[in-house]
Amino acid sequence: MADKGTEPEIKKYKPFQTPKGVHDILPDDYEYHTFLKKVVRHRARQAGFRRISTPIFEYTDLFARSIGEGSDIVSKEMYEFKDKKGRSLTLKPEGTAGVVRSYIQHGMNQLPQPSLLYYFEPHFRYDRPQKGRYRQFWQFGFEVIGESDPALDAQVIQLANKIHGDLGIAELFELQLNTIGTLEARQKYMQTLEDYYVGKERSLCEDCNSRLHKNPLRLLDCKAEDCQILAQLAPVMKDYLDKESIEYHEELISYLDEMGISYTENPKLVRGLDYYSKTVFEFWDKSEGAQNAIGGGGRYDGLVELLGGQPAPAVGYAAGVERLIANMKREKIKVPSKDDLHVFVAQLGTEAKKKCLPLISELHEAGIKAVGALGKGSINIQLRLADKFKVPYAILIGITEVREETAIIRDMSKGIQETVNFDEVAERMVELIGEDNLDLYTPGELVYS
Ligand code: HAM
Repeated sequence: MADKGTEPEIKKYKPFQTPKGVHDILPDDYEYHTFLKKVVRHRARQAGFRRISTPIFEYTDLFARSIGEGSDIVSKEMYEFKDKKGRSLTLKPEGTAGVVRSYIQHGMNQLPQPSLLYYFEPHFRYDRPQKGRYRQFWQFGFEVIGESDPALDAQVIQLANKIHGDLGIAELFELQLNTIGTLEARQKYMQTLEDYYVGKERSLCEDCNSRLHKNPLRLLDCKAEDCQILAQLAPVMKDYLDKESIEYHEELISYLDEMGISYTENPKLVRGLDYYSKTVFEFWDKSEGAQNAIGGGGRYDGLVELLGGQPAPAVGYAAGVERLIANMKREKIKVPSKDDLHVFVAQLGTEAKKKCLPLISELHEAGIKAVGALGKGSINIQLRLADKFKVPYAILIGITEVREETAIIRDMSKGIQETVNFDEVAERMVELIGEDNLDLYTPGELVYS
C-alpha cells in the first residue's frame, strides 16, 4: 500500500505488439492496397466478373475436403478452433473452397454459365513467418465456374498478366505452366509415383515421408537436395496423360501463343492444393524462382462435385497482395496518393473557432480536403502544424477577420496571402485548387423502387 501522503504508484504496462506473423496496414501501405483494389476491380469488371465475399471462417471439413488432408495447408497451416457448441471451424486459408461452397449453396448453376466471380480478401495460414510469408495475408482471386474450355484458362492467365502489367511489374515474373491431367490420369500417375518412392524412404526428408502415401505428387516439388535428386529420376506425368488432357493443353498453348503470352513449360509444377486437374500455373519471380510466387491457379474440374454440387468444371487464379506490393516497392513504383490535404484552417479565439467549423464543412462539400480548428495554440503554432501536414494553403481567421467577416488565404509555398470575404472562401479555394483536383464523392444515382 502507498504511504499516506505519497502518490499511488501507477502500473506501467508493456505496449502490445501484433501477434507473430501478422502486420498492420499503415496509411502509406493503404495507398498501395487501394490502388491494387482499383486495378483488380477495373480489370474484373471489364471481363464480366462480379465481386463475392465469403465468410472469414467456414466449417473445417470444407477446407479439408477441397484442399486435401495431405496438403501442407490442411495438415499444418490451418487456424482451426471450436465454437461454443464444439463445431470445428477454420479461418479461410484460401478463397476457392468458400467460393465453390457459395456457388453450390446459392444455386448459381441456374444462372447463365460460367459464373464469373472475384474477391479481394484477407486469408490465414499458420505459415513460418519470413519475407513475403505471413499468417494473415491478402489475396485477390478470380474463379470461372461452370464451363470447361482452354480458352477460359487462357483468358484467366491473360487477366492475371494484365493486372501485373497495370502494376508495372509484369516483366519481373515468368509464367510456369503444366498440366496434371484429368483426375483419372492423375490417380494412375500418383500410384506409379508412390510405387517408385516406396523403398526409398530413407533418402526422403521428413515432410516427404509423411506425404508419400497421402499425396506423392508433392514430392516432385520438394526443395530438399536428396528429394530433388530422386524427383529428377521419377516417372514423368507426361507419359501418363490421357489424350483428352494432352489435347486440352495443346489448345491452351495455342491460345497463349496467339495472345503473345510467354510461358515456361514445367512438368514438375504440381501446386500445393489437391483440387486441381489439367491446367496448373504459377507466376514465379525471375530472380527467386518458386520462392515467393506472386500468384497461382489452375483448373479444378472435380471440386464442385466433391463439395456436393452438380458437376461443374472450373478454373481460377489468386495472387498475394503483400507480395505484389513488395515487388512494386522494390521497383520503386509509386502509386497516386489521394490522401494529400488541400488546406489547413487556423483560428484564434473562440469566436473564430466557431466560424471555422461550418467553413471546414463547406470546404468538404465543395471537394476540398481540409483539416483544422484544432486546439488553442497561437496562429504561428498552427501554421507550423500546417507545414507538417504539407498543405499548399492555409486559411487564417483571427479576431479582426471575425469582426470584418473575412478570412486570409495563405499560399504556403510562396508565402503570399490574400483577404477574402468569409462567404466567398470556399469558392476562391475551388479556383485555387482547380476543378480537376477536387475530391468530390459521386456515389451514383439512387433509384427508389
Ligand atoms: P496459392 O498458390 O496457395 O493458391 O496462393 C496464391 C498466392 O497467395 C500465392 O502465390 C502467394 O502470392 C499468396 N500467398 C499464399 N500464402 C501466403 C502467405 N502465407 N503470405 C503471403 N502471401 C501468401 C490459392 O490459394 C488458390 N486458391 C488459387 C486458385 C484460385 N486456384 C484456383 N482458383
